[in-house]
Amino acid sequence: MRKTIITTIALMFAATAMAAAIPPRGRITIEGKRPVKFSHQTHTEKAGLDCATCHHDDKGQGRDLAAIKALAGTGSLACGACHNAEFKDKKLRKRKNVFHDLCRACHKKGLDGKHGPTKCSGCHGKRKRKPVEGC
Ligand code: HEC
Ligand code: HEC
Ligand code: HEC
Ligand code: HEC
Repeated sequence: MRKTIITTIALMFAATAMAAAIPPRGRITIEGKRPVKFSHQTHTEKAGLDCATCHHDDKGQGRDLAAIKALAGTGSLACGACHNAEFKDKKLRKRKNVFHDLCRACHKKGLDGKHGPTKCSGCHGKRKRKPVEGC
C-alpha cells in the first residue's frame, strides 16, 4: 500500500516535470546537415524574447506561450514542418535561409546592444579535426 502511494507520488512528480518543460530546459539540437546547439533560456530569460519572435503558425502569425501550450504536441513547432520543399516562398524552403534570416540577422543587428554569435563556428561549432593516427 505504502509502496503504491510512493510510486503514485513519484509518477505525479515526473508528469509535472515533463509538462513544465515548455520551453525545454537546457540545450536542444537543431538537426540538419550542420546541427546547432540552441538554448531557450539564453533567449527567453537572458535576452527576454517572446516565444512569438521565433515561433509562428501556418499564416506566419506569432505563437505566444499560451498558444504553444495549447498545442496537442510539439511536432508542429519544428521549422521544417512548414519550411520544406512545398513552402510557397521559394527562398524560405532552404534551411540555410530559414535559420540565418531569423538567427543570424538578429545577432548581427543586436538586441539592446547585446550580440549573439555571427561567425559560423559560434553556432555550428568547430569542424571536427581528423583523428590523429595511433591515438
Ligand atoms: C546564429 C547562428 C548561426 C550562424 C552564425 C551560422 N549559422 Fe548556419 N545555420 C544555423 C542553423 C540554426 C541552421 C539549421 C541547422 C541545419 O540545417 O543543419 C543552419 C543551417 C546552415 C546550413 C544548411 C544545412 C542544411 O541542413 O541544409 C548551412 C550550409 C549553413 N548553416 C552554413 C553556415 C555558414 C557557412 C556560416 C558562417 C558564414 C553559418 N552557417 C553561420 C545557424 C547559424
Ligand atoms: C530565439 C528563437 C526562439 C525563441 C524566442 C523561442 N524558441 Fe522555442 N524553439 C526554437 C527553435 C529553433 C526550436 C527547434 C525547432 C526545430 O528543431 O526545427 C524550438 C523548439 C521548441 C519546442 C520543441 C522542443 C523539442 O524538443 O522538440 C518547444 C516546446 C518550444 N520551442 C517552446 C518555446 C516557448 C514556450 C517559447 C517562449 C517561452 C520559445 N520556444 C521561444 C526557437 C525559439
Ligand atoms: C506552421 C508553419 C510554420 C512553422 C512551423 C514555421 N514557419 Fe516560418 N513562416 C511560415 C509562414 C506562413 C511564413 C510567412 C511567409 C510569408 O509571409 O510569405 C513564415 C515566415 C518565416 C520567415 C520570414 C519572416 C520575415 O519576416 O521575413 C522566417 C525567417 C521563418 N519563417 C523562420 C522560421 C523558423 C526559424 C521556424 C522555427 C522556429 C519557423 N519559421 C517555423 C510558416 C511556418
Ligand atoms: C531577436 C534576437 C535573436 C534571435 C532571433 C536569435 N538570437 Fe541567439 N542570441 C541573441 C542575443 C541577444 C544573444 C546574447 C545573449 C547574451 O549574451 O546575454 C544570443 C546568443 C546566442 C548564442 C550564444 C549563447 C548560447 O546560448 O550559446 C547562440 C549559440 C545563439 N544565440 C543561437 C541562436 C540560434 C540558433 C537562433 C535561431 C534559432 C537564435 N540564436 C536566434 C539574440 C537572438
